[in-house]
Amino acid sequence: MKTLAARFLKGIVRPDPLLDDGTPQIAFVGRSNVGKSSLINSLTGIKGLARTSSFPGRTQEINVFAVERQYWLDLPGYGYSKHSLEKKRELHRLIDWYLFKSGCRPKRVVLIIDAVVGPTDNDFEMLRALEATDMPFVVVANKADKIKKGRAEARWRELRAGLESHKLIPYSSQEILGRKELAEELFGLREHR
Ligand code: GTP
Ligand code: MG
Repeated sequence: MKTLAARFLKGIVRPDPLLDDGTPQIAFVGRSNVGKSSLINSLTGIKGLARTSSFPGRTQEINVFAVERQYWLDLPGYGYSKHSLEKKRELHRLIDWYLFKSGCRPKRVVLIIDAVVGPTDNDFEMLRALEATDMPFVVVANKADKIKKGRAEARWRELRAGLESHKLIPYSSQEILGRKELAEELFGLREHR
């Protein structure tokens, strides 16, 4: 897949005119350390575009990137136990505000789960909230490279069964897996090959 035209615009923590300019928004959400920022880098083909870290809790603002003709929003992760209670509340409020109160209505929410761990209670909570507000979303199982090749198909079946009818895309930010399918989901079939 080709490298996408992408650049960092800004980190936001409150309403911003940028979000009201009519550009379609894609929001990347998931628990802390699941690989949201890594996925943005691998999908655009630009290493270092979004800051990643082996320590959970790296992203603490909504980082907005212009990617082709969309805005991609790298949201902070939820559920990082070592943040102070106050920090957890602050990040939770920010995620909640953007998704459910800002009126932004992203074109697609990409809910990222860990392929090995599977959906956690926090992931299900997010999934239910997205369902309840009729938000168009797709579930991506990241870190698929950690699943043994011989086990992979059974694992995707298992994960899909637990997610009812929702679409699940196995993905790896480290190996080339799932990029084409996810890009098609975000841009539509004709624009991206
Ligand atoms: P926060 O900003 O803290 O919420 O984390 P994040 O979800 O943005 O995660 P980040 O992209 O910073 O990645 C967290 C860790 O997971 C890093 O050590 C990455 O190298 C690793 N990681 C991300 N994607 C993959 C993947 O597909 N496979 C493997 N094996 N590791 C990955
Ligand atoms: Mg991050």
